[in-house]
This record gives sequence, C-alpha cells and structure tokens, in this order.
Amino acid sequence: MPRKSAALPVDTPAAVAPPCADFAARVVAWQRVHGRHDLPWQNTRDPYRIWLSEIMLQQTQVSAVIEYFQRFVSRLPTVAALAAASADEVMALWAGLGYYSRARNLHRCAKAVMSEHGGAFPTDPEVLVTLPGIGRSTAAAVAAFSAGVRSPILDGNVKRVFARFFGIHGHPGVKAVETRMWQLAGEVLPAEGPAQSEDMVSYTQGLMDLGATVCSRGKPACLGAAQSCPLSADCVARRDGLTAVLPTPKPRAAIPERSTVMLLVRRRREVLLALRPDSGIWGGLWSLPEMPVDTVPFDAEQAEDAALERAREFGTPDRAAMVGELTHVFTHFRLLIRAIRVDMSGALAVRDSGDGPALRWISLDDLDEVGTPAPVRKLLETQARGGLF
Ligand code: ADE
Repeated sequence: MPRKSAALPVDTPAAVAPPCADFAARVVAWQRVHGRHDLPWQNTRDPYRIWLSEIMLQQTQVSAVIEYFQRFVSRLPTVAALAAASADEVMALWAGLGYYSRARNLHRCAKAVMSEHGGAFPTDPEVLVTLPGIGRSTAAAVAAFSAGVRSPILDGNVKRVFARFFGIHGHPGVKAVETRMWQLAGEVLPAEGPAQSEDMVSYTQGLMDLGATVCSRGKPACLGAAQSCPLSADCVARRDGLTAVLPTPKPRAAIPERSTVMLLVRRRREVLLALRPDSGIWGGLWSLPEMPVDTVPFDAEQAEDAALERAREFGTPDRAAMVGELTHVFTHFRLLIRAIRVDMSGALAVRDSGDGPALRWISLDDLDEVGTPAPVRKLLETQARGGLF
C-alpha cells in the first residue's frame, strides 16, 4: 500500500494519498460491472491475439483498431503464420493504422518467438520485454491478460489515473515522476492468491477502461450518474480540485536565444531603414540594417569597428557607438538585439529596389508612414528621447 514517502524526488507537498487498501478491489469490482467485456481481443488467453491487440492499441483508438484486428487474425491466426508471412503482406494488413515501425517490430517479434521460443508465445513479462516492440507496460498487459501474472501496467491513460488519485505533480514523462508511478503501480496490485489470475485480468482492463472513459483528460466523470469513479472518494485531485491540472502537462522546452546587431545609421534627424525579405521574421516590414554576430563573447569595440566598415556601403561614417540592447520574445525563440549607432556626414543615395535589400532614409517624424517591427520602433524612440537625433 502507498505510504507517506520521506523524500519525494518530485515537486509536490502531498504526493501520496492516504493509504487505500482496496484500490485494486474497487477497480476490479467496477470493471466487472462497468468495464468493456466484448472487445475482439478479450475473453481469450491466447497471448498472440492479446499481444497483437496491445501493439495495435499503443497509438490507436479502440474503435479504429477493431476492424484491423479482426482482418489481421483471420489472415494470420497464429504467431507461426505471422512469422512466415511476407513483409509486404504484414504491411498491407497494417496499412492505415499508422506508426509503421510497430508493424515492422511485430513481424520481427513473431520471427523471434519462432526462433528463440520454439513458437510458444511467452507470458512472462521479463521475457516479453526482451522482444522487439514490447515495452514494460505492454509486457505486463500481455502477461496479465494471457496468464494472470501480477505485473503492473503504466500506459498514458493509467498515468493520468495515478497522477490524479495519488496527487502526483510533475510531468509523467519526467523520469523521477514515472519511477514513482511504477512504484505505486506495483504497490496497489490485486493480492496474490486463488483469485489473482481473474483479478489481474479485470484489474488491468479496469485501469485501462477507467482511464479511457471515466478519468478522461478533458472532463473526468468523477461523480457521474451511472459510471462514477470507484476511486473518487480517495482521489487527491478530486478532493483538492486539481483534476484540471493533473497530470502536469509536458513542460515547454526552453526557447532558444538568437542575437543580432542592428545599425542605427543616423544622418541629422534621419535614420536608414532596410526592407525585410517577405519570408522570415518581420517579412515586408522596414527594419534597421543588421550585421552578422560572429564574435563570441561579444566584443563591443570590435562590433563598432565592424559597424563603421559596414556603414561605408551607405556613405561616410564618422563614428560608431554601442547604444543599448533589448530582448524581443517570439513564439519559438528570443532575439537579443544590440544596437550600434553610426553617425554619417556624407551619405550615398540608396536603392529603393533592385537586387540588393531595399533601403531608405526616413525622418524620425515620419516613422508612422512605414511598418516597423515593435522592438525597432522602441529602439528608435528611446534614442530620440535621449536627444540623439
Ligand atoms: N488500450 C490498450 N490496451 C487495451 C485493451 N486491452 N482494451 C482497451 N483499450 C486498450
């Protein structure tokens, strides 16, 4: 039974519910009344059919699998038949189910059962996990359904049930969270004994059915009329109003940072703008000319020299100076913008179109006439306020 854990590696003050001695018994009783009983891979102890269904169900809904499953087993009713089939035939039977590596592994697995296990499909989870395409949870499901083996499953639906019932915070894809769930999954299994085998079938199916129907992602039916959850009375998420936040969603990846150096090329009250190419960020807007940043760490003095050099394209630069930096956050990255002001005395006439990037001088008073990216506008306004134009 779950105990209060001394040091939880996951971010949660109350990660474990009070002990729930009859967790499995409640799931078993619920499954027998409210669970699914006549799916085409149920009511059999044939590990071949059970394994095939579990692989098909890994990334596909029950409703989509039923037809494929029936066609598959009527053409290839045994592991020997599958092992002897051609890759083309296997792929043709799988076509439409998606995730085709499952089909290739299925075929490899059948051949391994023939060559390494004399054609007898294993039912020991520790043997099953050594076969191609069979992970720890699938191995446990096949073992439980085919031989009543006392081994826990932990697929996506079951992780949701556990996260809510035990109040486990942290994304279940995080190793420490998953490890904690496996540990609990092992602790709440049906008891050993004469009823174990039948109980393991109902329990394993019951967890899957609960996760798929009652303890759904969007709107769990904790206290629904006909099918209320058998675990709701002791469910931490229900008690604490956390069903909408558990399980914790996958953390967003930290967004990468890019950087650029913008040139604030100034001539009296005018500044030089460059038209952005249509594709990419700020496509079609008038921004500031940019320089590649290839000095790491960034060296302001070198950058100023490079800016002077670059500005000769536009006329006669007098001096260059770093004038500030700001960060702009896009959906997929942050852009660190450093600005170097270049004062020009003589300026060349600039192209408005042609093969190079279009450039134009614009008075600070006319900025409203052109579309300018927000951070560029901010930079220009800050400079103008500082009396630099
Ligand atoms: N998803 C995975 N295994 C399943 C099973 N045996 N029944 C229903 N849905 C499932």
